[in-house]
Amino acid sequence: MSDVKKTLVQSRKPQGEEGKEIIEKMNKNHYEVTGWGLQMLILEDHSQVIDLGCGGGKTVQRLAIHTPEGKVFGLDYSEDCVEWANELNHQAVEEGKVVIIRGEVENTPFEDKNFDAATAVETVYFWPDVIKAFKEVHRILKEDGQFLIVNEAYPDENYQEKNRVYEEVGKMVIPSPEELTAWLKEAGFKEVTIDLEPEKNWLRALARK
Ligand SMILES: C[S@@+](CC[C@H](N)C(=O)[O-])C[C@H]1O[C@@H](n2cnc3c(N)ncnc32)[C@H](O)[C@@H]1O
Repeated sequence: MSDVKKTLVQSRKPQGEEGKEIIEKMNKNHYEVTGWGLQMLILEDHSQVIDLGCGGGKTVQRLAIHTPEGKVFGLDYSEDCVEWANELNHQAVEEGKVVIIRGEVENTPFEDKNFDAATAVETVYFWPDVIKAFKEVHRILKEDGQFLIVNEAYPDENYQEKNRVYEEVGKMVIPSPEELTAWLKEAGFKEVTIDLEPEKNWLRALARK
């Protein structure tokens, strides 16, 4: 298997030694785009937040800093990611401030109206049923809750070659701002704001319940 294919297969569901290497890279490489995305979120000290497809748990760690009196959950369907995210956040986990669980975004174990905000960084491209997942996010958010999506790719002619590899080799679905808006509205979100960073092919989307 080529290195690109290995990386993309692992990005979909990081596992084992190879997955651990990819997760360590993602914790570093997604830091800047995540910070850019997080600027859209309004968090209070006591906010209850969930990071969906949390991978190595770096975003969970950042969210915990922004919500000193709140609670942050991380959810991922990779058992290994749950272990690595727990390791990275071990102190906050011991304090009960952070909880990492194994689960699928389409079907979470949370009650209705549980979270002030949900985040999804570099993961929506892999979700097998995006509308179902967005409806699930809508269900677990409180009224007026925020859903932040951060993607390091959107369809753009200047990035055709890079994105073609993601789509063909990684089987990723890279939504345009229009598609993302339509899917979020179909899932019930009332307000959607999307920003692009054309120099880097980055997209950040904030949807309000
Ligand atoms: C490219 S990684 C990004 C990880 C992390 N958000 C970051 O920015 O570093 C995608 C993550 O989403 C998780 N994932 C993909 N589809 C999922 C699903 N349907 N349910 C739960 N987790 C999922 C993968 O296991 C992986 O950890």
